[in-house]
Amino acid sequence: MKIAIIGTGYVGLTTAVVLAYLNHDVAAVDKDEGKLNLLHEGKSPIHEPGIQSLLTEVQHTIRFTPSVADVVPEAELILIAVGTPPKKNGEADTQHVEQAAKEVAQVCLPDRHYTLVVKSTVPIGTNQRVAEVVASVFSERGLRGNVSIASNPEFLQEGLALQGAFYPDRIVVGANSDEAIDTLRRLYKPILEQTFDPPSEFPRPSAYPLPPMMTTDPNSAEMIKYAANTFLALKISFINEIAGLCEEVEADVTEVARGIGLDARIGSRFLQAGLGWGGSCYPKDTAALLGVAAQSGYRMPITEAARTVNFRQRERVVEKLHNALGTLNGKTVGILGLAFKPNTDDVREAPALDIVRALIAAGATVRAHDPIAIANARRALSGLQTPTTENQTNNRLSFTEDVYELPYDADALVLITEWDFYHRLELRRLAKQMKTPILIDGRNVYSPEEARAAGFHYIGIGRF
Ligand code: UDX
Repeated sequence: MKIAIIGTGYVGLTTAVVLAYLNHDVAAVDKDEGKLNLLHEGKSPIHEPGIQSLLTEVQHTIRFTPSVADVVPEAELILIAVGTPPKKNGEADTQHVEQAAKEVAQVCLPDRHYTLVVKSTVPIGTNQRVAEVVASVFSERGLRGNVSIASNPEFLQEGLALQGAFYPDRIVVGANSDEAIDTLRRLYKPILEQTFDPPSEFPRPSAYPLPPMMTTDPNSAEMIKYAANTFLALKISFINEIAGLCEEVEADVTEVARGIGLDARIGSRFLQAGLGWGGSCYPKDTAALLGVAAQSGYRMPITEAARTVNFRQRERVVEKLHNALGTLNGKTVGILGLAFKPNTDDVREAPALDIVRALIAAGATVRAHDPIAIANARRALSGLQTPTTENQTNNRLSFTEDVYELPYDADALVLITEWDFYHRLELRRLAKQMKTPILIDGRNVYSPEEARAAGFHYIGIGRF
């Protein structure tokens, strides 16, 4: 099938590469010259396990271009995968989606049928809005268009994007026309029937059941995306709330999570207590859902509470450090992990950013390590590194690529991202170099016994 994808961010690029691998004829459009230059050289602009080798494999069957007019007229299916960044009030901004729909409608040929699919995460009612935008462009052009609109929300998890695309739990399609549903069923046929040869890096999981393609109306499909993300976000916030109480009563939250997770109705996934969620989805999507609710005058106290608990986790860890050291002023703190989660260099809404800012504001000196996210974190925290006359923060924030440089003369270490690499650290070697060997394990990566045996004063989340 001839496919045009608008936007080559995480969602657009992953989708493009996977669909090309499934032998579809894919062209992807992006306005960002920097990204296009990289893609033309066959290089992935995002860090995602497996994407580079798959991109190299499909390089000759995928096209990247800045022009919608280049690729849309000949396409049968057009996927919109552009960003919907938060506005100041938290609502998702759909201007790029609407602009993409407009540009598409301007170049559609009058005698052809197209299926236009919104993959971006959008407020409920956006599909309807896209249909209106397309209809109005066609009426300006004096034509009767033949475009079916569908919603096909993306459940991509960073770090597991390709795995999730080849072996999804489900595919959700919201559309009012049978034609759009049929086109999407044909698009996803190799995945729905698992007829493709798995790429070597992504073998088919054993006992993987065929994924259902659920069809529904567009508004419900849009709501499914927000409800799924909000539910996962509140599951994590729930276990973090329980973790706080575990600390008060000397219970171990990892044991509690294991015990409740064994109840099939609850399930064991997304019950890891720690520093809570960051990234490009949960913070943004929970805020956007509250924005949608506010427009209807409807209150969502559970979603509000999930956000409060989540951001409190970041403050609590700074308090723990303060309690352990007596003061933060003049202390040196080593940070293990800057990315919002392992296997990505993404630092958007990462807990590390808020924690570093709070430590610097309290007078501490911070030295930070991450296996791959230092460049992005340096950029995100660049404001902190600008020296001013009153507040000489410049030399109080530094980054190191050698994790064993972190503890030198440090008063404490804080583990923020649970990279596999940190599981394998020589704890004894770290502890030995520190002024005071305090370890705040913000993701409960180490067992308290192991860390204490290595010489650390160990403080986890929700354990004693
Ligand atoms: C999420 C959804 O999983 C995905 O389906 C949706 O399309 C986009 O949002 P993502 O943001 O990439 O994906 O990451 P995810 O793996 O869900 O983790 C989000 C955050 O929750 C991370 O900061 C992670 O550290 C945290 N988390 C996750 C926990 O604190 N505890 C857990 O048990 C699980």
